[in-house]
Amino acid sequence: MALIELQNVVKVYESQAGSITAVNGVSTSFEEGEFTAIVGPSGCGKTTLLNAIGGLDRPNQGHIHIDGVNIVNLKDRDLIDFRLQHIGFVFQAYNLIPVLTALENTGFILELQGVSKKERDARAMELLEAVGLADRAHNRPNQLSGGQQQRVAVARALASRPRFILADEPTANLDSKSTETLLDIMAALNEKEKTTFIFSTHDQRVIDRARRILPLEDGQLKGL
Ligand SMILES: Nc1ncnc2c1ncn2[C@@H]1O[C@H](COP(=O)(O)OP(=O)(O)OP(=O)(O)O)[C@@H](O)[C@H]1O
Ligand SMILES: [Mg+2]
Repeated sequence: MALIELQNVVKVYESQAGSITAVNGVSTSFEEGEFTAIVGPSGCGKTTLLNAIGGLDRPNQGHIHIDGVNIVNLKDRDLIDFRLQHIGFVFQAYNLIPVLTALENTGFILELQGVSKKERDARAMELLEAVGLADRAHNRPNQLSGGQQQRVAVARALASRPRFILADEPTANLDSKSTETLLDIMAALNEKEKTTFIFSTHDQRVIDRARRILPLEDGQLKGL
């Protein structure tokens, strides 16, 4: 069984301007260990699709099975728990907590899960080492560069050993050098730890590093 299975996923946004079908019947699956980019122009539905896979938003139609669980049918509370236990997120705007240090941000999901401080600090430090930021563990986000903040966000996403990581345009705010560093780290985690990454991008340098590319156009997968 695939790690993630999408069947005819549809998401329609209703607004005063009318309804927009942002994702229009997407069916595909993702295996464990993938390093996949969802690509396409602005407005093609990348964020909407990732948010549906991550259970941050519910589709109007279709099924999304993760490890055999249809997350579309989960109650709100169960969906929140499921997300916390199984999915790691990296956002375009990093979304670190400003008052927490890199170490505390990295351990934040573990704290929500009730892991002891000693245990989460040890795990967070191990991950900050993996992303090359052990020496910045006690700095707050505003004392770090954008690239460093995004590396903390990757460490945070990995902390609870999720089944996969969803990253929505993780390099959008980064310069070329930070983009390369972040991609090197993600690719190394994918190869060594078999961490599954699904990310969206419209940056050719990022597309070039993906092992599988899913082109999205007007809410539909193309070339399949
Ligand atoms: N909350 C919303 N309400 C109404 N329409 C929305 C909403 N969110 C997204 N849309 C519309 O859905 C479509 C897909 O948007 P989405 O954000 O998924 O695109 P995207 O591929 O992530 O674009 P970008 O590359 O600019 O981030 C767009 O037409 C967008 O305007
Ligand atoms: Mg987007």
